[in-house]
Amino acid sequence: MKSIAGVFGFGALLGAALTISVANTPAVAADGKDTIEKRIALMKNGVLKNYLYAKKFVKDGEGTAEGVVKHAKLLSEASKDVVALFPKGTGRGEFDDKTTRALPKIWEDWTGFKAVADTMTRESAILAEVAAGGDKEAIVAQFGKMAKASCGGCHKPFRGAKVK
Ligand code: HEC
Repeated sequence: MKSIAGVFGFGALLGAALTISVANTPAVAADGKDTIEKRIALMKNGVLKNYLYAKKFVKDGEGTAEGVVKHAKLLSEASKDVVALFPKGTGRGEFDDKTTRALPKIWEDWTGFKAVADTMTRESAILAEVAAGGDKEAIVAQFGKMAKASCGGCHKPFRGAKVK
């Protein structure tokens, strides 16, 4: 025979389960949004700034080859943090197009995505080595190779169009 307490007990359990699932949804979404903001900040500060130093040296002759060594190393370091900032469930589809430009293809082709991040680590480390040699032409060539293979190599397949 079921006791009153047993029935209440079940009700309380069910209630608790409902509370947990309701409370969890916004928490996960907030975490995701936080991660999206972090990776965009990494792209802007850790990646773009160091990339631009090298680009200005290559295109406008600003800065020094030693500066390129330093910034290419920072770029290579920053690239190692990229993959961890793309957990599943933080792309377009889960978040609106204004919040993120990360395409679902990232998680459909996770191996490919990780490979481009590795390419960036490698090619920017090579850029640092080449820049240490001080040969401008070689720096220009390696910069072009790195940018095409990493920035372009990832943005083209894995980043969607910007929306206002
Ligand atoms: C492994 C993939 C990958 C590589 C390599 C990569 N990016 Fe990105 N980048 C992305 C993705 C995906 C986003 C969109 C992130 C989001 O909106 O959540 C992004 C966003 C950015 C942003 C933020 C602003 C915007 O318009 O989305 C900048 C700036 C940027 N990348 C610059 C660069 C530069 C410069 C390089 C090369 C030196 C580079 N990225 C290499 C994947 C990559």
